Order: sequence, then C-alpha cells, then structure tokens
Amino acid sequence: MRSIFILLFLLNIIYAKYLSNESCSECHEKIYSEFQTSYHSKTYFNDQLHRKIANKVSKKSYKCAICHMPSANNLDDLISSKARPDVKNVTHSDAISCYFCHTIAYVKKSHKFFLNVKAKQVEGFKPSFYGTLRDVDHNDKHESLKNPIYTKNVCKGCHAYKLNDYNTTVFRNMKDGDNSQSCIKCHMPKIDGGGEKFNRKSRMKHSSHRFLGIHDKAFRATGVDINATFNSGNLNIKLKNKMGHPLIIQSARAKFLKIDAFKDGKVIWQNYKDNPSEDKQGYFSSFYKKDGKKIIIPNLATSARFNNIDANSTKVLQYSVPKNADKIEIGFFVQFAKDDCLKVLDGLDKNYTTPQLIKRVKLELNKWYKSKVEYQYFGIINIIKGWRVLMNKVVVISLVLSTLIFADNAGKKVFETYCWGCHHQTAVAFGPPFAQIAKKRSADEIKAMITDPEAVSKVFGYKRNAMPKLKLTPKELDEITKYILSFKNYKDK
Ligand code: HEC
Ligand code: HEC
Ligand code: HEC
Ligand code: HEC
Ligand code: HEC
Ligand code: HEC
Repeated sequence: MRSIFILLFLLNIIYAKYLSNESCSECHEKIYSEFQTSYHSKTYFNDQLHRKIANKVSKKSYKCAICHMPSANNLDDLISSKARPDVKNVTHSDAISCYFCHTIAYVKKSHKFFLNVKAKQVEGFKPSFYGTLRDVDHNDKHESLKNPIYTKNVCKGCHAYKLNDYNTTVFRNMKDGDNSQSCIKCHMPKIDGGGEKFNRKSRMKHSSHRFLGIHDKAFRATGVDINATFNSGNLNIKLKNKMGHPLIIQSARAKFLKIDAFKDGKVIWQNYKDNPSEDKQGYFSSFYKKDGKKIIIPNLATSARFNNIDANSTKVLQYSVPKNADKIEIGFFVQFAKDDCLKVLDGLDKNYTTPQLIKRVKLELNKWYKSKVEYQYFGIINIIKGWRVLMNKVVVISLVLSTLIFADNAGKKVFETYCWGCHHQTAVAFGPPFAQIAKKRSADEIKAMITDPEAVSKVFGYKRNAMPKLKLTPKELDEITKYILSFKNYKDK
C-alpha cells in the first residue's frame, strides 16, 4: 500500500501542467492518429471487457486506474472509492496518455507490480518530455529530453507483472532482468515519415504508435510457428512461441488448437468434441483457485496455474490420429474472453467471445508430409528485414573501428576529470573497477547510472547510493561509456 502512495505523491506533481493527447496532434499528427487506433487509447469507457470486469471486481473502488487510467488527476480518489471514472474528464478518457508515457523518469520494482516514477515538472514552465532525440530543439509547447532509462524500461512499469492481494500472479509478461528494447522493436517498429510536422531534422522514419498486438490479424500471425509431422498415426505438433513474453499474458484470454483429420473430404477425428478446453495439452490459459475451489475472477484467487509457453520456447504436443487420415488441418485460435468469463460477465460483444484465427497449417498426407502455412509472406518479409539489419551492422562496425582510437583518448580525459579518485580502470577503489562494470552492464545501463545514479544504483541492487550526479555533456557521456566498455575483455593476471 505504501508504494501506491509514493506513486500517488509523484503523480500529484504533474497535475498542474497536463497536456491532452489531442493537444499533441497539432504537431505530431501521425503519431496521434496511430495512437488513437491503439489499445493504449482504450480504457473503462471504450473497452467493454475492461469495464465489465472492473465493475465485477468492485463497483466502488477503481484500482485498475494505476495502469489503465494512469493520468487521472484524482487517481487516489478512484482507488479509495471516493470517485468513479468520468468520461468528461480528459485525464480519464486519455487512457494511457502521451503525456504519461513521455514523463516516466524511471521504473521501480515493488512487490505487487512495477511502479512508474514520474519526472517532476516545474510549475509555470513548459513540461519536459523524454524521448530518444539527441541535440533537441525547443518548441512552443514542451522541452524534449533524452532519457536512457526511457527506451530501456518504459514498458515495464505496467507490463511486467501483477500480483493480487493474495500474492497470486494475475499476469506476468517479463522477467525482472528483461528490458523493454525488445518490446519496442516488435511493437513499435520504425515506419515511414517523420514523427513531427515541421520535421526540422528531416527524419525519414518514426516509431509506430499503433502498438499492434493480439487484436491485429496480420500481426498476431507472426507470434507463433506451427510445425507438424504425421507418421503412422502419430501427429507431432511443434508450437514455437517467438514472442518476448509467454504465450498467455492476459487472464481473460484462451489460445487453443483446433485439429481436424479428414479422409476423402470427411472429418474422421477431432482433438475435442464440444469445447476446446477438453484438450488439456492444446488449450492455453490461466486457471484460478480460491481455497482449493475453482474461481473465475483472478483478483480473488489464492492460487493460479498456467498452461503456457515461455518466451522464445517450443512445446511439442502429441496426438494419436487414425492412420488412414489423408489430410489434417491445424488451426490456432484466440478467444479474447474465454468461456469461463462468460459465466460471470453477461452481454459481451461477439468479437470478444467468438474464437479468432491466429494461424492455420494444412498437412496433405498422400504427398510428402509438408506443412503449408497461411501468411507465409511474413517469412519473406522477415528475411528481407534480417538482411537490412545485417547491412546496417556492417556499416556500424566500420564506423566504430574508425573512431575507436580517438574515442579512447577522449574517454580517458573524461575519466581523469570526473571519475578518477573513486574509480580505477582495473582495480577496486571507492567504486567498482571499470573492467568489472564493462563485463556486466550495457552502454545504456552505464549511461543511465551516470545520468541518474540515485535511481539507477537502486535498480542495480545497491543498498545506498554513494556516487554523485555528475554533469556531463552528451558527447562526454558517449566517450566515457565507450572508454568503460573498452575494458570488457580485460583479464586479471
Ligand atoms: C507546437 C508543436 C508541438 C506540440 C503541440 C507538441 N510537440 Fe512534441 N515536439 C515538437 C517538435 C518540433 C519536436 C522535435 C524537437 C527536435 O527536433 O529537437 C518534438 C519532440 C517531441 C518528443 C521527442 C521526440 C524524440 O524523438 O525523442 C516527444 C516525446 C514529444 N515531442 C512528445 C509530445 C507530446 C506527448 C505532446 C503532447 C502532449 C507534444 N509532443 C506536443 C513539437 C510539438
Ligand atoms: C501506463 C501503463 C502502460 C505502459 C507504460 C505501457 N503500457 Fe502497453 N498497455 C497498458 C494497458 C493497461 C493495456 C491494455 C489496454 C486495454 O486493452 O484496455 C496495454 C496494452 C498493450 C498492448 C496490447 C495491444 C493489443 O491490441 O493487444 C501492447 C502490444 C502494448 N501495450 C505494448 C506496450 C509497449 C511496447 C510499451 C512500452 C513502450 C507499453 N505497452 C507501455 C499499459 C501500459
Ligand atoms: C518477437 C516479437 C515480440 C516481442 C519481442 C514482444 N512481443 Fe508482445 N506480442 C507479439 C505478438 C506477435 C503479439 C500478438 C500475438 C499473440 O499475443 O499471440 C504480442 C502480444 C502482446 C500483447 C497482447 C497480449 C494479449 O493477449 O492481450 C502485449 C500486452 C504485449 N505483446 C506486450 C509486450 C511487451 C511488454 C514486450 C516486452 C517484454 C513484448 N510484447 C515483446 C510480439 C512480440
Ligand atoms: C505506451 C507508452 C507511449 C505512449 C502512450 C506514447 N508514446 Fe511516444 N514513444 C514511446 C516510446 C517508447 C518511444 C521511443 C520508441 C523507440 O525507441 O523507437 C516514443 C517515441 C515518440 C516520439 C519520437 C518519434 C520518432 O521516432 O521520431 C514522439 C514524437 C512521440 N513518441 C510522441 C507521442 C505522442 C504525441 C503520443 C500520444 C499521441 C505518444 N507519443 C504516446 C512511448 C509512448
Ligand atoms: C499492474 C498494472 C495493471 C493493473 C493494476 C490492471 N491491469 Fe489490466 N492490463 C494491464 C496490462 C499491461 C494489460 C495489457 C496486457 C495484456 O493484455 O495482458 C491489461 C489488459 C487488460 C484487459 C484486456 C483488454 C482487452 O480487451 O483486450 C482487461 C480486460 C483488463 N486488463 C482488465 C483490468 C481490470 C478490470 C483491472 C482492475 C481490476 C486491471 N485490468 C488492473 C495492466 C494492469
Ligand atoms: C564520489 C565518488 C564517485 C565518483 C566521482 C564517480 N563514481 Fe561511479 N560509483 C561510485 C560508487 C561508490 C559506486 C557504487 C554504487 C553506489 O554506491 O552508488 C559507483 C558506481 C558506478 C557505476 C555502476 C556500477 C555497476 O554496478 O555497474 C558506474 C557505471 C559508474 N559508477 C560510473 C562512473 C563514471 C563514468 C564516473 C565519472 C564520470 C563516476 N562513476 C564517478 C562512486 C563514484
């Protein structure tokens, strides 16, 4: 509970200067319209499933606001039952707003979920938004700042995990050590066009704010690979989760296999009769219990079990199918609100309850056992993408080589000016040696530590922070980081 109050306290500071999503559209037109189509623009008012579950959990308090309505100017009232969601309040209807995401200073682990710690905004001045820009320009509405933590952990504050009041996992998306870079790569790919209207820096691309996910047909087909073989009655299905998170992260969801075996065009075998949950291996979901009895609302559960596939892992499923089958169709489906939910929520729209296809594979058995996958064109796109990434790397490597010797000297100078006395390159001083830091930290982590030692030393697990905040220019920051990392391969004699 205490952690919620810290969060509320920090949120209080931003009340005065809130800028609505719509106000951003004046200059960030494209990003605004992308955002409007995304599920980050959905909340109590425009997501029926969310509203129904929230009302079922409590008609008085609305604790969901911490993640689903984080910009609310009366968040503490919503949580403590003093106020209800109000569609006329823009800090409510803006949902997971532009303003909120772009003022997260860092994220902090707490017992039940990670917390977003907001940047303090100075009263009477333009707000400052974090981004990834270097050498930022000024504009009428806001300042822009680069925050290395921002690209790294910005998704964690809401998506990492959530435990209920009985310490039971409601969802778990990320491990503690995971960062958000991979999330951004898949969910915010670079797309054509600059991110702001005047495009002063003539940038050709911006990061998509559509945040495509399970609701997008083409995108969701890229999450899993299905490989199947059939040999004298044994059907083997390899289900590979290619995503950076478990297959199931949302407790209302079910994902399942529907398998039909045919002979001369007639169905002769199926993996379930009436309900997909009859097939225990092919039905992926979460199952909750309270005091040993099955329950449906996760918030009340005292234990949970998941049939799931971990991030980047494969599960092999085996079925016995009549040997004379000449064709097998394997469909992989998602149901946004699984049948169990329907027992406690009524009147849900059809699109939440009707299973939707993720991917389908067909085995034609008289020919070679070859699988034919729908959406195959994604494979081709990925090959092209991979090639482009490779080409970029070649260019980057040659650039790095040519600046290496130069950077070392410049980095050493920064070291002698600011860090010497507390750190040594290879020996323990007051702080840890650079050689040791280089082995366990990335460039982003090192930069983050130098920029905000008080916050980051906690993230790194130090009990107290003894390193002062040093004012380095972006150039010095780059140079010292390179210098530290140049000790990566240093070996003790
Ligand atoms: C008056 C025009 C204007 C408005 C309104 C505006 N911005 Fe900006 N914003 C800009 C410009 C111009 C830049 C680019 C600055 C540069 O090139 O250095 C920018 C940059 C940014 C960046 C940094 C981008 C990066 O690449 O790191 C973020 C984040 C951002 N704006 C968020 C917002 C949000 C959120 C809102 C609405 C609350 C908003 N802006 C409203 C003009 C505006
Ligand atoms: C302030 C909390 C918050 C932050 C920060 C946040 N999200 Fe979300 N995100 C949510 C919530 C809440 C939802 C569910 C919204 C709904 O469906 O009502 C969501 C939904 C999503 C979805 C599902 C879309 C779909 O259609 O299935 C994706 C993908 C996603 N977020 C990606 C990200 C990424 C990537 C980041 C980091 C750049 C991020 N989120 C940061 C709260 C957050
Ligand atoms: C390799 C690409 C990839 C990476 C990395 C990745 N995702 Fe996803 N994610 C997907 C795909 C594809 C889907 C939609 C298909 C599905 O859910 O089965 C998805 C679905 C989601 C959903 C919606 C799930 C639901 O049922 O509502 C959320 C939320 C989400 N991702 C957040 C994240 C976050 C946060 C991260 C970083 C830890 C992340 N993703 C990393 C590809 C990825
Ligand atoms: C869920 C968190 C989240 C929300 C909500 C969000 N952004 Fe962003 N935004 C990000 C992240 C993360 C990046 C950097 C992505 C990267 O590193 O590629 C970004 C990048 C940007 C940039 C720089 C774009 C570029 O690549 O040149 C601008 C400008 C921006 N956002 C404005 C906005 C505006 C305006 C809104 C609301 C309409 C908004 N953002 C909503 C997380 C968010
Ligand atoms: C710790 C942050 C957090 C809290 C608190 C939280 N959620 Fe969520 N919720 C998320 C995230 C992140 C997602 C998107 C990821 C996913 O789909 O798994 C999400 C997704 C959802 C979805 C799926 C949306 C859809 O239609 O596809 C529903 C429904 C939902 N939440 C309901 C609730 C309700 C009701 C509460 C309060 C009782 C609540 N959540 C509290 C973070 C949170
Ligand atoms: C007044 C002494 C002092 C100065 C000056 C100082 N540091 Fe530190 N530094 C520390 C201490 C002590 C730690 C251990 C963490 C802590 O206590 O906060 C540390 C930790 C670090 C870490 C993280 C270590 C880890 O676990 O990965 C980095 C990176 C770092 N320092 C870089 C620098 C750089 C670069 C400079 C110069 C620009 C610098 N420090 C200047 C005392 C100092």
